[in-house]
Amino acid sequence: MTDTRARTAGEETPSPMPGDEAPLLEVKNLVMNYEIKTGMVSAVEDVSFAVPKGRSLGLVGESGCGKTSIALTLMQLLPNNARILGGEVVLDGQNLLELGEEEMRKRRWDDIAMVFQGAMNSWNPVYTVGDQIREAIYLHWEPRPSYDEAMAKISELYELVGLNPGMIERYPHEYSGGMKQRAVIAMALSCSPKLIIADEPTTALDVIVQEQILEELRKVQHEFGMSVIYISHDIAVIAEITDLIGVMYAGKVVELGSTREIFANPRHPYTWLILSSTPSITGPRRQLAPLEGEPPNLLDPPPACRFHPRCPFATDICHEREPPLEEIKPGHWAACWHHEEVPTELVTESR
Ligand SMILES: Nc1ncnc2c1ncn2[C@@H]1O[C@H](COP(=O)(O)OP(=O)(O)OP(=O)(O)O)[C@@H](O)[C@H]1O
Ligand SMILES: [Mg+2]
Repeated sequence: MTDTRARTAGEETPSPMPGDEAPLLEVKNLVMNYEIKTGMVSAVEDVSFAVPKGRSLGLVGESGCGKTSIALTLMQLLPNNARILGGEVVLDGQNLLELGEEEMRKRRWDDIAMVFQGAMNSWNPVYTVGDQIREAIYLHWEPRPSYDEAMAKISELYELVGLNPGMIERYPHEYSGGMKQRAVIAMALSCSPKLIIADEPTTALDVIVQEQILEELRKVQHEFGMSVIYISHDIAVIAEITDLIGVMYAGKVVELGSTREIFANPRHPYTWLILSSTPSITGPRRQLAPLEGEPPNLLDPPPACRFHPRCPFATDICHEREPPLEEIKPGHWAACWHHEEVPTELVTESR
């Protein structure tokens, strides 16, 4: 087993916005593993972060670091082999992990909705898109609305996400990829959730459509005052649309702060390295430094700091003791013994 650090009851949940009003969502010491034949995959390890009301948080990290696993744990839509081993998911003061399945079913989509990775391919080809969104509305709205009320809502949502309401009664195959994804977002909004989780909402789309959809999402978020968690492996995409960033590495949140602060002053070596290997859209051209080494096997993660085998700053303490996620300045959290040594300049080595 890994050495989970126990956060004592009453201890503050790491919030990237100190002194803000009560957060909408607080994830506290969440631990989730997948049980497989050869052992336990440590996909979410002692993860804590808060999302303030009306704010957007980006969760970023390389493939397999546990981003989707966190989202599915928040939604409690996990595969059968998933084991939640500890922690709390507190939404508006209530721990969702204590709710029964029936109660959770009500909170899902009403309170938290999710746009799944690859969701645009999940439309049922047999029904019109409008049929499928109406079905969600009928299932969740109390009292059940009339057909006309449901249609009025869908038209409004279509306009909001940049779709022509004339498309509502069309079949999925009549939509382009970008249109299908916009319709997924419309469906996620149909129950006016307090929190939307968007897992790689635009990855399969071309760049221009990506930009447009992210812009719609941002507009919608401001209009409704929702909180949003965006998930992406691409920190440049995340930075364009979020106020706050949580950087994940191998099942853990290793750095958390405002997007501005994370870009201006990365304090975790992993963040520093991924920023160094991300082309800057606005800044001067520079050579990108590659991130060396392989992501760890989560069946047997490295002890203590999981990043130490790839870290240019690692010393003995890094494989002996796990660095806690510490608030190194108000609203800026990092889990690194050597956070003070990370240079303020990005690396610019040649490949
Ligand atoms: N059902 C499962 N059973 C066993 N292991 C799983 C299962 N689902 C995911 N994993 C493992 O859990 C870890 C985290 O996976 P997850 O899908 O959450 O990563 P991710 O950050 O979303 O990656 P990506 O960017 O590729 O979507 C990975 O090691 C993955 O192989
Ligand atoms: Mg994923």
